[in-house]
Amino acid sequence: MDKYVIKGGNPLVGEVEIGGAKNAALAILTAAIMTDETVLVENIPDVSDINVMLEAISVIGATVERVDRHSVRINGSTIGSVSVDYEFIKKIRASYYLLGALLGKYKRAEVPLPGGCNIGSRPIDQHLKGFRALGANVTIRHGVIYASAEDLHGAHIFLDMVSVGATINIMMAAAMARGNTIIENAAREPHVVDAANFLNSMGANIKGAGTDVIRIRGVERLHKTSYTIVPDMIEAGTYMFAAAATRGDVLIKNVIPKHLDSMTAKLEEIGCEVEEFDDAVRICAKKRLGKTHVKTLPYPGFPTDMQPQISVALCLANGTSIVTESIFENRFKYADELTRMGANIKVEGNTAIIDGCELLTGARVSAPDLRAGAALVIAGLAAEGVTVVDDIIYILRGYEDFDLKLRGLGAEMERVSDEREIQKFRLRVG
Ligand code: UD1
Repeated sequence: MDKYVIKGGNPLVGEVEIGGAKNAALAILTAAIMTDETVLVENIPDVSDINVMLEAISVIGATVERVDRHSVRINGSTIGSVSVDYEFIKKIRASYYLLGALLGKYKRAEVPLPGGCNIGSRPIDQHLKGFRALGANVTIRHGVIYASAEDLHGAHIFLDMVSVGATINIMMAAAMARGNTIIENAAREPHVVDAANFLNSMGANIKGAGTDVIRIRGVERLHKTSYTIVPDMIEAGTYMFAAAATRGDVLIKNVIPKHLDSMTAKLEEIGCEVEEFDDAVRICAKKRLGKTHVKTLPYPGFPTDMQPQISVALCLANGTSIVTESIFENRFKYADELTRMGANIKVEGNTAIIDGCELLTGARVSAPDLRAGAALVIAGLAAEGVTVVDDIIYILRGYEDFDLKLRGLGAEMERVSDEREIQKFRLRVG
């Protein structure tokens, strides 16, 4: 399995371009099958989760034509099956979007229960509650979710907790249901807004996305569109904290600065300079970082998908920081790996207590999931000596050209596949 080998210690300096949002693209590419006309989606990231999703919709019969690395044309008129029996799809969390899209369009869907990163128990009861409220009969048998309805009708749905996936999934099904739907306690993440904008560009009638009450007036059919995915706030945030942890100076281009506010605020608190432009942010860390406390929350709070990356920066800060994870219960699995690099990080329940140290030292570590994997790369970039990050398959799910982009900022790192190549790298960097 491929690994990243990193010689740390260089501040990251330069410019980096952010791609389209993976989590928005996963929802939008699935929603694209809801019309029988051709849809063009641009600015999709070239990462494995997206490629698996495209393969899954093509396996059920949709026509998927890759225009170039970041654009795809999709036509859902050729779909021959509402049964998604595809081994790999279980591995991506967002496979649940196939339920909302197929149920909305065909009033029937059969989708394996999703997997995804192992960051804690990830029930989808709120999605199913929403589908049932819209009139669907939903059962789970042998690991597969079966949903069907004679007729989907509008409903008033109050989500028990703020869920990105449930909000988007219910929005998709309700877009083609008869009558009006109201989703209360809806998620407000930028990808919810992007998915709603995309559906509206296909003729749906969705209002209020970005607030906690979304109103949907169902329409009979959706039509063709061309759409560009929003920039990925988590990819951007990852480079922001990589700049901070390495005491670098990085201009992060093609972002929506507003989406990054919670991260910008924390970077300023720990002593970084953050300059905002129309579609870029510059992070400059001139001195040793300071401590802070952070709690993950639904948007616009600090994202759970940035928790490992800020924790790495805080491992190098002056003082004691407390990081509280309030979304997923098993999201500190990288802490033991960081300890092997010299970090003082102690996890108690959903809280990590981090005593900042002056220096991390390179070690062999293993990526436990997507964002934690990225965080270990940041740790490697900041550490003295050589770090090997194993199991980068997780990182490739969500970061396009991670090594290439980091090398563009001066990182000494390579993607390698065996021990010999690691040895060669060690000899080369001395
Ligand atoms: C999405 C993102 C993921 C991000 C997360 C929170 C995708 C593909 N993934 O995941 O990267 O970390 O949002 O921002 O977009 N919950 C339930 N029942 C449900 C649904 C959720 O109990 O039916 C709970 C979850 O266990 C979790 C919380 O609600 O504690 C939030 O989960 P949710 O927002 O749904 O996350 P995902 O959509 O799975």
